[in-house]
Amino acid sequence: MTYLDHAATTPVLPAVVTAVAATMGKVGNASSLHGSGREARRRVEESREAVAEALGARPSEVLFTSGGTESDNLAVTGIYRARRREDRSRRRILVPALEHHAVLDTVEYLAGTEDAVISWLEVDDYGRVHADTLAAAIAENPADVALISVMWANNEVGTVNPIRELAQVGHRHGIPLHTDAVQAVGAVPVDFGRSGVDALTFTGHKLGGPVGVGALLLRRELAVEPILHGGGQERGVRSGTLDVAGIVGLATAVTAAVRRRSDEATRLAALRDRLVREICAIVPDAVLSGDPGCSGVDGGPSRLPGNAHLRFPGCEGDSLLMLLDSEGIECSTGSACTAGVARPSHVLLAMGLNETDARGALRFSLGHTSTEADVDAVVAVIGPVVARARQAMAAGSRGR
Ligand SMILES: Cc1ncc(COP(=O)(O)O)c(C=O)c1O
Repeated sequence: MTYLDHAATTPVLPAVVTAVAATMGKVGNASSLHGSGREARRRVEESREAVAEALGARPSEVLFTSGGTESDNLAVTGIYRARRREDRSRRRILVPALEHHAVLDTVEYLAGTEDAVISWLEVDDYGRVHADTLAAAIAENPADVALISVMWANNEVGTVNPIRELAQVGHRHGIPLHTDAVQAVGAVPVDFGRSGVDALTFTGHKLGGPVGVGALLLRRELAVEPILHGGGQERGVRSGTLDVAGIVGLATAVTAAVRRRSDEATRLAALRDRLVREICAIVPDAVLSGDPGCSGVDGGPSRLPGNAHLRFPGCEGDSLLMLLDSEGIECSTGSACTAGVARPSHVLLAMGLNETDARGALRFSLGHTSTEADVDAVVAVIGPVVARARQAMAAGSRGR
């Protein structure tokens, strides 16, 4: 099997399996006062310190959650409600239309139920938000903005945003910025303190940790209304008994991913570039979406090192995916969360593509288990696969 869907989820690191299993074998609620509870608390706090150290945060800025979706919901909803509580006129949320649905659907929910007004931030052809675009959107009325949410790196096309610059623009007006860094952590340099962002989402299962555990990095001075109410864990912002084993697994994964990030980025970018080059040699009209990756953003690459997003004109993405799957190659047509629903990707549409051009999209995402043999496997079959997908699409349109 050739697994090229690491952006959907990546294999758990052996060290994480060991750490999680060892912790699961121990009893103890981290809020209990007896010895087992104190031991569980010690593991949680050591993990908090490790996560903070790896990502340039203070331990008190790390809030453990159940993953990216929860952190995005908590940040967007919690900041919106807190900012409006301070000032009812702050209703505007500035967000690009190519965010992950965990952000998009939350923003739309707030617009439908709590009077939020969405200002869609334009992106360029690569899917990047520019500082002057954000500044212009704020300038419409700086006083009515509740928050800005811009992803650090896009999960479909891999474009990296100039997050530090965007946070500076927001801060000139005292507006907080949340970033979904689910795809960025472990792939590009992420330093919470240096970035200046106020809230940062990430999750374990994209970097070799367990599914169902993640974190929100949150500045101490930023007010956030909780969405989960209960025992008051995690600064009262995220109630719920802490998942000690998951948290230990998350910290183990983040530490490993950040430690090997630079070498892995170089290795994966080289594999990715070969994959793109060889596919385009076999299928000359294939088009790479997003940033070509030749420039830098804030000390890191302008495209995620493991991301190859290609469009194959005259094909349906889903038929390419199934044909590759039958050859033992696993990839995605876009975000795994929206795959299966036959609609063009909202990311590609937000980047200005029309419905026809947005068809035939495939995302190959490489990760820590990827090798030259994986690239060879795709290169060996892509020509016939594309030819068959084209025949199927042509036959389909003749039949209509
Ligand atoms: C950019 C982005 N944000 C959020 C999520 C959701 O994270 P989780 O699966 O941990 O809920 C994903 C997962 O696909 C993602 O790629």
